[in-house]
Amino acid sequence: MEIIKVTNYEEMSKTAADYIITMVRQFPDATLGLATGGTPVGTYKRLIEDHQDNKTSYKKVTTFNLDEYIGLSGENPQSYRYFMDSVLFNHLDIQKVNTFIPNGTALDLEKECLNYENKLKNHGGIGLQILGIGNNGHIGFNEPGTAFSSNTHIVDLADSTIKANARYFNNIEEVPNQAITMGISTIMQCREILLLASGEAKADAIQQLLGKEVNEHFPASILRSHPNVKVIADEAALSASK
Ligand code: F6R
Repeated sequence: MEIIKVTNYEEMSKTAADYIITMVRQFPDATLGLATGGTPVGTYKRLIEDHQDNKTSYKKVTTFNLDEYIGLSGENPQSYRYFMDSVLFNHLDIQKVNTFIPNGTALDLEKECLNYENKLKNHGGIGLQILGIGNNGHIGFNEPGTAFSSNTHIVDLADSTIKANARYFNNIEEVPNQAITMGISTIMQCREILLLASGEAKADAIQQLLGKEVNEHFPASILRSHPNVKVIADEAALSASK
């Protein structure tokens, strides 16, 4: 695991965006794994700026998102489909049919998980996966205790995750308590991973990520055994690590 120390959120976003842009320019048909949440928003903003200024094209790029809330359709502003469309996809020349996000309103949710996993595998897997990290060490919505062997599956969100994500909803009761997420095994099959972390709120999680033995109680710790992970973290996120 390589640690790239940056000063602040801006520099984290620039470093991650430059990395993605270089990849897309080199491999125009790249497959990217994307995350939602607050962490990657600055990175996505820079991808859009670069697309407008330098014409980097996403016409042949495919994306797979990590997760989606169960019960929210793509028209719901709190859904991750809506989020990704508004913060990124609508501003690039990417073809919407090539942007995949689990369908949280599928009638048969188990089948949706299987289909998502198969779609990803048939496509040849993910070249570069962007990850954030939860305060409890979750990656995607794989909460503590999730089996490292898990594929795309349905999860019950931890109370701490529901609390952390309530900021995007009118009140905490509106936060769905289940989601579909790529599994830990799905994430580990990505050829390359960029984990982004910014701010003091992530300091404990980053300390555990860097210091902890691989352990299902801290899901992100599995990344220590992946051959190609870069952690782009700012000074505040690294403040509890030696
Ligand atoms: C989002 C996701 C989550 C977030 C994590 C951090 O698709 O899978 O694992 O990356 O909860 O969220 P933020 O960036 O809001 O701190």
